Amino acid sequence: MRIDSLRAVALALACTGALFGCGEGPSAPPASEAASRALAPTDPGLAAIYQRSCASCHTVAATGAPLSGDSGAWSPRMAKGIDVLVDNVVNGFGGMPPFGLCMDCDAAQFEALIRFMATGE
Ligand code: HEC
Repeated sequence: MRIDSLRAVALALACTGALFGCGEGPSAPPASEAASRALAPTDPGLAAIYQRSCASCHTVAATGAPLSGDSGAWSPRMAKGIDVLVDNVVNGFGGMPPFGLCMDCDAAQFEALIRFMATGE
């Protein structure tokens, strides 16, 4: 019992440290839904596809999808290689349905959409 409460205090202190103790050095601004919603592909055709399919999840954090333009969330995914990512979109991946809800997209369009979401450009 006593040990349990000591552990609870230690955990609470560790959490406080994590919240307030890391003010050293510059850090990237946190990715936000608002920031992701402000982004769109420059190509109008691609932008239309993006808005009707990918954006409905990739601008809403609660879906579990990496937010568009959140390079920190995208870099480990991009490290898998673009071909793997395109395959994962086509087949569905985790909470993402097959084709990311763009049933008539081809591989080149998926690749362009992924590169846009990973960088915000
Ligand atoms: C219904 C919601 C939804 C839609 C629509 C959607 N995604 Fe996703 N996407 C997700 C979720 C959730 C994940 C994270 C899955 C995981 O890691 O478990 C994800 C992950 C990804 C990944 C990373 C896959 C990997 O291997 O790490 C790529 C690439 C991707 N989405 C591309 C797209 C593209 C392109 C579109 C539009 C054509 C799209 N998504 C539409 C929900 C969605």
